[in-house]
Amino acid sequence: MKYTTKNIRNMFLNFFKKKKHKIICSGSLIPNKNSNLLFTNAGMNQFQDYFLGKKTYPFSKVATSQRCLRTGGKHNDLDQVGYSDYHNTFFEMLGNFSFGTYFKKESILYAWELLTDEKWFNIPKEKLFVTVYHQDYETYNIWNKIIKLSTDNIIKVYDKENKQYESDNFWQMGDTGPCGPCTEIFFKKKNHKNNIYNLDDKKQCVEIWNIVFIQFNKVDKHNVIPLNTISVDTGMGLERIASVLQNVESNYQTDIFKKIINYIRDTNSLITENTQSLHVIADHIRAAVFIIKEKIIPSNEGRGYILRRIIRRALCHGHKLNIKNHFLYKLVNIIIETNHNETKQLKDEKNYITQILKNEELQFQTTLNNGLNFLNKKIKKLKNNNINHELIFYLYDTLGFPIELTKDFCIDNNIQINQKKLDNFILNKNKNRKNQNKKNIINNIIYTNYTSKFCGYKKFEVTAVVKKIFINNQEKIKILKNETGIIILDKTPFFGESGGQIGDTGIISHNDIFHVQDTQNFMNTIGHIGTLSSGKIKINDTVLAKINTKKRLLIQNNHTTTHLLHTALKEILKYPIEQKGSFINEEYLRFDFSYPYTIKINEIYNIEHLINQNIQKNIIIKDQIIDFQQAKNEGYIFLENKIYPSKVRILSINNISKEICKGTHVQQTGEIGIVKIISYKSISSGIKRIEIMTGLQALQKIQTQEKNIKNIQNILQTHYTSLIPKIKKIITDHEKIKKENNYLNQIIIKYQEKKLIKKIKKIKTINFIMHEVNIKNIKSIKILINLLKKKIYPGIIILFYESHKKYIFVIGVTKNLTMYIKATNIIQIIHENTNSIGGGKSELAQCTSENIVNIIKIKENIQNWIKSKI
Ligand code: ALA
Repeated sequence: MKYTTKNIRNMFLNFFKKKKHKIICSGSLIPNKNSNLLFTNAGMNQFQDYFLGKKTYPFSKVATSQRCLRTGGKHNDLDQVGYSDYHNTFFEMLGNFSFGTYFKKESILYAWELLTDEKWFNIPKEKLFVTVYHQDYETYNIWNKIIKLSTDNIIKVYDKENKQYESDNFWQMGDTGPCGPCTEIFFKKKNHKNNIYNLDDKKQCVEIWNIVFIQFNKVDKHNVIPLNTISVDTGMGLERIASVLQNVESNYQTDIFKKIINYIRDTNSLITENTQSLHVIADHIRAAVFIIKEKIIPSNEGRGYILRRIIRRALCHGHKLNIKNHFLYKLVNIIIETNHNETKQLKDEKNYITQILKNEELQFQTTLNNGLNFLNKKIKKLKNNNINHELIFYLYDTLGFPIELTKDFCIDNNIQINQKKLDNFILNKNKNRKNQNKKNIINNIIYTNYTSKFCGYKKFEVTAVVKKIFINNQEKIKILKNETGIIILDKTPFFGESGGQIGDTGIISHNDIFHVQDTQNFMNTIGHIGTLSSGKIKINDTVLAKINTKKRLLIQNNHTTTHLLHTALKEILKYPIEQKGSFINEEYLRFDFSYPYTIKINEIYNIEHLINQNIQKNIIIKDQIIDFQQAKNEGYIFLENKIYPSKVRILSINNISKEICKGTHVQQTGEIGIVKIISYKSISSGIKRIEIMTGLQALQKIQTQEKNIKNIQNILQTHYTSLIPKIKKIITDHEKIKKENNYLNQIIIKYQEKKLIKKIKKIKTINFIMHEVNIKNIKSIKILINLLKKKIYPGIIILFYESHKKYIFVIGVTKNLTMYIKATNIIQIIHENTNSIGGGKSELAQCTSENIVNIIKIKENIQNWIKSKI
């Protein structure tokens, strides 16, 4: 086939190479740090700063094939997938760009040549028409006068609701950023009457290429300012142009998607075919593979959340197709095979990607099962065919069960959902949550551009001057007795919470003492949050700022240990783990990191061992301020998603650990003393958590554990070395006793059964037994009642026993009586006589009386009631 997707990509890039464009690799799917986008949504993203004139690009004409993801923000195609033939969440965008060299005429000439020239894509000219922004006369004229397109093939697109630039032909990257008028080229799928096409009807025509003239920067919602240099940004969806050139009806019928979809069919021997679900799975697995390749892991926020949504949506559709086994992670191979652009990188990451997908798939299976069980139980109890919207929300919000799946379930079971009520409920919940979050933030934020100096790396107390005071977010000139507020000093030894390390506590004293309960950073200011115990402190007072040294030293032990742990993990697990979060206080440290496999206990011991070894070496810790770029080049660890200033502090423990870090640390590793891992676990798919104690606290932990073992030894009267065989023996003995006990129980039950049968009384036609038993075990009594029910049909059996001055009643009613006599009715009668509590079903119920009871009277009442019922 001439126009395979692979060939089309190559032809596009070759065409522009011939036109003196530099061919650049696709940028990452994760935009650069300054971007306000979660994922790259267009070819131009990697050049954003060059379009805005912030920097000069080394080449003025470039072309790329850029991987993109449109799952949120201004460009969101997630919900279209499955319903539209031409939308994908993940796709490749072919684009040529000019940074101030060529503009409208050249870019239109290039596009026209590539699309229509027989050496290239060879699309008949009469199959194309274009749109232009209504005020862009220049572009209109180029199409009409130079390309010679007839006026009925040039459609002017106007602003929506008369708002300037709110138009499909005014392209914007996001809520802010480069933007400008654009002209779009459409392919006519069928020749339509009078050459009039509905642009949104994909059965009539499909947009294949968008040429944007970047002339403006949208700085905020209402302001668009002109740029000094005018540029060109174009984008053509590879999968879409492939569908046109391969003469098929949808992206999903092109060579690549055909292979993926056939593979899903073949490997799952589908019983129920459903094109929509196949499309969703094929699209979403591609997206998921490429997102995970960027080291994003499924989670509940940000990019991880989008990934989780995509994977779960694909799994739901697998469920719709009745695929019983785990299947999604098995599709990684076919995605790698069908992507010719980055096969090597994908192959290197194959195991990792598969493992992350598998973890999420296994985890979601539990959610899926829990949700379905829950729904099954609930629908049995429904009085009519309507399911409560709060229940659906609970399933979604608490159990993580997708609303989409609940809807499918309800359709299958003929149950109605009140969609409007559900939508309103979700809306209100979200609003409340937003408000709550806002409240918390506002309470803690102060705005000031004052810069205070941190001098707490070496000094634990300094004399300083009060520069600012805030109470309830208002700037004040003094703080009085019992008032809580924030004090800002010119310099301070207090460390403001950051990088996982908690803020310092301590005192700021003048004549009076301000107790600092927490320290936080606000922009470049360090805020001491606390309460004044007496007198007053004013602006410009000279004070003594003194941290709680004991606490700080403990925090430092834990922070340095975090660095040693990071190194040890990489070394022992032999895997490029990445830090995903940390928390360091005076008691312990917590470290979260990406690692898709199970950590073995021996690996834990080795990690612990290695950290302790490095502590024993008593290595001096060095810090220095250098350029961020230099730190990066020299391999200092930094966090991918964090924004760093141009100068950063680097911290090295010989060659063992090199990190960019603002935190406070010990001077030599020996100060830490000893380290003990106190827990390790998986906290979400692909993320592990380790918790550690250090120094005397670690020793105390070890001693407590040893004490516990000693206690167990004492209880079991055995020496340490025989502890395990002894415990194993106890468990075996226990199992044996349980079995014997069961056996004896059966005999007792049989014996009781025989005895009780003799106590049957007749209330008219009904067999009635009410008797005390000496089996003090509800489970056995229930077995006994069930046995008796078979013998005395129709019958009512009430058995009771006394335990700790309470009476426990178990009531059984044979099924044929329950229309008019229910076990729960009898509970009610007992309750009236004894103030008991209990419950159950019509055939079996139980209750416990809280006070001494008159059995004879109860019996009489029950019998009378039964008589009244028959
Ligand atoms: N950036 C333009 C688009 O994405 C070309 O449509």
